[in-house]
Amino acid sequence: MKSLFYSRFFILLPWVLIVIIMIDIDTKRTPVRSPVLGRPGGAQRHDRTRLPRANRSALPVIYAITPTYNRPVQKAELTRLANTFCQVPRFHWIVVEDSSVRTELVARFLSHSGMPYTHLNIFTPRRFKRTGMPRATEQRNTALSWLRSHRSRKDVGVVFFADDDNTYSLELFEEMRSTRGVSVWPVGLVSGRRYERPIVEKGRVVGWYTGWRPDRPFAIDMAGFAVNLQVVLGSPRAQFKRRGSQPGMQESDFLKQITKVGDLEPKANNCTRVSSLAYHCYRGNSFIRLKKVALTVTLFPLVKLSGMKHYLLI
Ligand SMILES: *[C@@H]1O[C@H](CO)[C@@H](O)[C@H](O)[C@H]1NC(C)=O
Ligand SMILES: *[C@@H]1O[C@H](CO)[C@@H](O)[C@H](O)[C@H]1NC(C)=O
Repeated sequence: MKSLFYSRFFILLPWVLIVIIMIDIDTKRTPVRSPVLGRPGGAQRHDRTRLPRANRSALPVIYAITPTYNRPVQKAELTRLANTFCQVPRFHWIVVEDSSVRTELVARFLSHSGMPYTHLNIFTPRRFKRTGMPRATEQRNTALSWLRSHRSRKDVGVVFFADDDNTYSLELFEEMRSTRGVSVWPVGLVSGRRYERPIVEKGRVVGWYTGWRPDRPFAIDMAGFAVNLQVVLGSPRAQFKRRGSQPGMQESDFLKQITKVGDLEPKANNCTRVSSLAYHCYRGNSFIRLKKVALTVTLFPLVKLSGMKHYLLI
């Protein structure tokens, strides 16, 4: 079965690259109209999602919380995220290392990223580092504590959990920016499916399309929701749980503390746009891993132009 996937993949790859290059040439010929007028070529492209400066300060700040840990692909993963995040206006990156110190590698990386960031660290006790245990719990909670002690009622913002092994489109951030309580949207390539999504009827979430445990109260991936900053500040005890939480239940256990299913705000056209916002790349599955490595390597120079969307055709 796997070798069938691989052989198909390698036969298709050259054609996919040709399609990608053609799409890219096409977008270069008809550049997307920039809201910032009169900028020369390169700068215009870079400012595609930027708003005029006067309006930018009125936007809620997006706080993206990224737990990370040392491994060979760490810097590659962070680079991919930074290339997306640096294009998002009013963005603050909270990076929390699973480490007893803030490492030189991440410190240097962030200081060169050119965006507002906060660099934190907390070491996960060894007894929690076994397979079958929820991951990054301490790191996410450390970031929530930081927000609670450094932000106040006056700050307008949205909190998003941006794991470092996922891929996010630029549109996602503009969708989540209007979050009043807790917002949700579909996520691609998760739990062995092409996508997972909240099922929405009459503008309300009524259930979940998912490949794993649809009985979870909130059957949603970490990449599938955002929370208004004031909700985080207003529920000071809400956090990710270790005790009693199984892997894959963390999202649900957290959301239970701050909202109800009926109050969720569906984004992405009532959760019908299923394949262009966030991708959870499933590390256990070597087919998808291969696919993602190929995308990262071949598309790296192009990502900035089009926010990934066109490229996930394979
Ligand atoms: C953004 O700026 C334009 C032009 O100055 C103004 O007309 C518009 O109302 C502003 N929008 C917001 C949300 O401040
Ligand atoms: C979502 O559905 C509700 C109720 O059917 C509708 O009023 C609303 O306009 C829809 N939103 C979008 C963005 O399509």
